[in-house]
Amino acid sequence: MELRTGHTHTGGRDPDSRPGFHIITFGCQMNVCDSQWLEQSLSLRGWRPVPEDKAEAIVINTCSVREKPEQKVYSLLGRLRSLWKADPRVFVAVGGCVAQQIGEGFWNRFPFVRLVFGSDGVAQVPAALDQLREDPGLRLSYLDFCSSYPERERVWNQACAPSQAFVTIMQGCDNFCAYCIVPYTRGRQKSRPLPEVITECSDLVRSGAREITLLGQNVNSYGQDQSGDGGSFAQLLEEVCALPGLERVRFTTSHPKDLHPQVIQAFGRHQNLCPALHLPLQSGSDRILQKMGRRYTTSQYLELVAALRRVRPDIVLSTDLIVGFPGETEEDFEQTLDMVRRIGFDSSFSFKYSPRPGVRASLMPGQVAEEVKAGRLQRLQVLQEELTQHSLDRLKGRVIPVLVEKRGASRFEGQWQGREAGGRVVHFTWPSDQELTGRFVRVRVQTAMKHSVSGEAVKGPW
Ligand code: 5AD
Ligand code: SF4
Repeated sequence: MELRTGHTHTGGRDPDSRPGFHIITFGCQMNVCDSQWLEQSLSLRGWRPVPEDKAEAIVINTCSVREKPEQKVYSLLGRLRSLWKADPRVFVAVGGCVAQQIGEGFWNRFPFVRLVFGSDGVAQVPAALDQLREDPGLRLSYLDFCSSYPERERVWNQACAPSQAFVTIMQGCDNFCAYCIVPYTRGRQKSRPLPEVITECSDLVRSGAREITLLGQNVNSYGQDQSGDGGSFAQLLEEVCALPGLERVRFTTSHPKDLHPQVIQAFGRHQNLCPALHLPLQSGSDRILQKMGRRYTTSQYLELVAALRRVRPDIVLSTDLIVGFPGETEEDFEQTLDMVRRIGFDSSFSFKYSPRPGVRASLMPGQVAEEVKAGRLQRLQVLQEELTQHSLDRLKGRVIPVLVEKRGASRFEGQWQGREAGGRVVHFTWPSDQELTGRFVRVRVQTAMKHSVSGEAVKGPW
């Protein structure tokens, strides 16, 4: 790897001569993972992370899965214009799904956007930022899709890893669910070779990671594409769970149609495979599921839940739900409420259907009125709040291991925050001022709040 320190530019925006960068991330964990890598790679090349108003290069990792996150990107760019006006050396790189959609279209509206890159272009971004800094007249675009996953420079063998790390195992999606823009913005599914994934995981564990989340748009179909090497997700999961020293393993996202029995069995076999699964249901109506192109029925979904609970009765289940998909009737929606109640999801993310340009469902008849969508979303969320409350209440009185993430923010000042194995947020007090980030602590849960629980640390042997 090329390590560039000692830049020719001195910057001048700050006494430290290393150029400053700032990354802003929207959307899914894949974007969070890309940003983590970028931050590390830029730091190794001699850049340093700084606040937005001190940065020479601002990277925005965007999401276009629904209209709202897309709008946020435009208002952010509006705000960043003033930084560029104050100092014309400042430039912005826009990456991710909106970049893939709008591409060089950004250049007319926002002259300070000098790099656009799609998800397959992330690997090239650090070198591109150096180039843009050297040559103020330059603009670059990395929007091509690759036929295989573009491997990135290894960074975790040279740096301290976060205690909770993400590892991308595949990119893109072939499912073309009728509402979803992802196959167009992230391209066809391409899996990373198994040895590459294992090397990255080992690097991470060796440099301090205690928990790894394997990421992909549909991890369950890992390996089942042209760039895959034949290994299945179940095999990959076995190898990752067997890595010495790795205390927690998670994975997301799973498509119910591809959740293999071997993967379900893995929950019963591996103690370090966290008892948590995000399994997007999207709708509780078979008629709507079919229109969405999801390729499973509600009864198949219920069978998966039963099998998961057989092997891991304490498994924490979360899901994604869309209300107001074209043609959704009150009866269809009530079936969604029924499924949610019946399964008793511990948490869910629910969204109003948002038509996406060029995506099949946007042309379907029976588009649902905005106020109907809003009413359904509210009813669904009220139900979920009840279920979440129930799930959190069950933790009361228990002593559970928590991987500490950070000091509590404003409302929880003086406390620490982490997650239990099921992924639920835990706040707790600690008697001294010791730094706890990245450590496991046992917490006795005392109170259940709306989205988290709180308690006190319990010292003593595990
Ligand atoms: N409208 C609303 N929600 C959507 N999602 C994906 N596309 C749309 C859309 N067009 C939701 C799905 C998916 C989650 C990441 O976002 O529930 O699982
Ligand atoms: Fe979108 Fe469906 Fe692919 Fe998920 S599986 S990314 S919802 S097309």
